[in-house]
Amino acid sequence: MRRLMLKVAAVLATVLVTHAPITNAGTPLERGEYLVNSIAACGNCHTPRDPGGAPIADQALAGYPDFYSAPPYDLHAPNITPDSKTGIGDWTDEQIIRAIREGVRPDGRVLGPPMPFNLYRDISDSDVRAIVAYLRSIPAVEHTVPTSVYRMPLPPSWGPPVTTVADVDPADTVAYGAYLAGPVGHCVDCHSPLGENGPDIDHRRGHGGIAFDGPWGTSVSSDLTPTGLSRWSDDEVKSMITTGVRPDGTPMMPPMPYAHYARIADSDVDAIVAYLRTLPPR
Ligand code: HEC
Ligand code: HEC
Repeated sequence: MRRLMLKVAAVLATVLVTHAPITNAGTPLERGEYLVNSIAACGNCHTPRDPGGAPIADQALAGYPDFYSAPPYDLHAPNITPDSKTGIGDWTDEQIIRAIREGVRPDGRVLGPPMPFNLYRDISDSDVRAIVAYLRSIPAVEHTVPTSVYRMPLPPSWGPPVTTVADVDPADTVAYGAYLAGPVGHCVDCHSPLGENGPDIDHRRGHGGIAFDGPWGTSVSSDLTPTGLSRWSDDEVKSMITTGVRPDGTPMMPPMPYAHYARIADSDVDAIVAYLRTLPPR
């Protein structure tokens, strides 16, 4: 655990000095790089890890075999680098967008959880295109990952086809915070208690309570409604999100992707916290 934390700290340090955050400014490629490597944290599931649990730097997004196993499933997060044989190099932009927002592969197979398709369907057209532009730009890594096995019924679809999704105006702080904490960052997916069909985001958004087992032991997602966050100032909440350290100095546990969140732009963390303060109290 301590080793893992030291590694996380080392990754944070490198990340902090090498990148300045890009929010809405810049090209689609820059926007995509920012989203994938900060708030969206796709690599938290899709990047392979070494035996100590640290992401393998030169295999970013090359797929994480044995990502998680539990009685209902054996999850293997696929290789999403542009390798044509073992990744998504041969997929068209539209096919990648459909996989992300609708959870349907080019061969028609419906993708299973835990990728949060119910939230990803509301990623805006320009942001999903930016994400695809970035995925096309990263090094192709040849890395075969087994197909996930689901011993549970998957829904026939995650909803009707997504046609077009407008951008949310960052000047509307609370609405933009809701967009970041929901569709883009899926904070509310990990932070809403499990109902019959996965996290009950509709009725108990942000109430917390999902238990995550791993090499770290068991962590339980916190209550992010004003009830749970009342004891913290805005700066304390921001600092926990971007450093993974509590105000009393103790490290927070995975699987919250702290190393990615260290790169979230200050104005974006402000928007997320402003939004969390408006959630109905638990
Ligand atoms: C919580 C973990 C998780 C997160 C976060 C996540 N994914 Fe996934 N993703 C998966 C898993 C697991 C699968 C495979 C599901 C299956 O096999 O049915 C998958 C499948 C995919 C596929 C289909 C690939 C294929 O070969 O079938 C694409 C494309 C993809 N993810 C892109 C992304 C992008 C882009 C992001 C970030 C915006 C992301 N994912 C975030 C876990 C995740
Ligand atoms: C993959 C699951 C996961 C994701 C995604 C995630 N969290 Fe967490 N979060 C957790 C867990 C688990 C804890 C508890 C950690 C601990 O107890 O050490 C936590 C703790 C926190 C805390 C500490 C609150 C307190 O009072 O203790 C805050 C704040 C928080 N998360 C905010 C967020 C925000 C904002 C996002 C999205 C940008 C997010 N989380 C995304 C799993 C997640």
